[in-house]
Amino acid sequence: MQLLDGKFVSEKLKQEIALEAAEILERTGRKPHLVAILVGNDGGSETYVASKMRNCEKVGFNSTLIFYENTVTEAEVLNKIEAINVDPDIDGLIVQLPLPNHIDPEKITEKINYRKDVDGFHPINLGRMQRNLPSFIPATPYGITLMLQEYGIQTAGKHCVVIGRSNIVGSPMSILMAQNSSTGNCTVTLCHSKTPDIKKFTLDADILIVAIGKKNFITADMVKDGAVVIDVGMNREISATTKSGYKLYGDVDFENVAPKCSYITPVPGGVGLMTIVGLLKNTLASAKREIYK
Ligand code: GUN
Repeated sequence: MQLLDGKFVSEKLKQEIALEAAEILERTGRKPHLVAILVGNDGGSETYVASKMRNCEKVGFNSTLIFYENTVTEAEVLNKIEAINVDPDIDGLIVQLPLPNHIDPEKITEKINYRKDVDGFHPINLGRMQRNLPSFIPATPYGITLMLQEYGIQTAGKHCVVIGRSNIVGSPMSILMAQNSSTGNCTVTLCHSKTPDIKKFTLDADILIVAIGKKNFITADMVKDGAVVIDVGMNREISATTKSGYKLYGDVDFENVAPKCSYITPVPGGVGLMTIVGLLKNTLASAKREIYK
């Protein structure tokens, strides 16, 4: 069993990003600039956004965090997005999800200028990704493909089973794994909450990608010998033993599943760190006008 080491790979890729950012600064006198909008005090969101901002600074990007209280109106957020959409100093904009119930995430997503949509959630980017055209690819699926690439994991002809059909991870991931590309060409099964007997599918998976948000959902009896297991779970539990007061658990019973795997991602230290790399690479591509002129 080999660990897919998100710490090692993300640090290496961030060094490459930092070199490119320095080159851009030298050539143009400006840094790539990411803006994040955060509304309210949802569980992990504050921590995740703070980490995104910190990593921007680490690789030599500018970062701006715009925080709104839970009481902000949808119109106010939409107005702010409109202003950012036309601000030439800003390359990327993300609005951290989930949002409070009175704000419609679809309205917000569609308002973002798709040329700055470095989360890749706008229908134009999703549609272009599905057609295998240049687009911003959602950060978590993007980070996972970078991880597969880094470890030279062969995907062509393999059976990839994705658990979870969210807009952020499962749905775009299933599209990418089926696509005709160097990290695709899988036969893909997408399982979700209405799939009966999920074990029947997971037992046949050469590559198992789990994004369901339930601690220990995947147990050793559900995994084929030699499988590649990618754990997207970020389940936070209060803990007295950590500095932050929380401990993070994946969706996979790591201790018992790991011995059966050829490769597996740990939590923490796996996919979460790669998500940030995906976001940084999208922001860099936006600053370089690589996707859209
Ligand atoms: N919430 C969980 N993951 C993400 C992400 O990748 N982007 C945004 N904007 N919100 C999220």
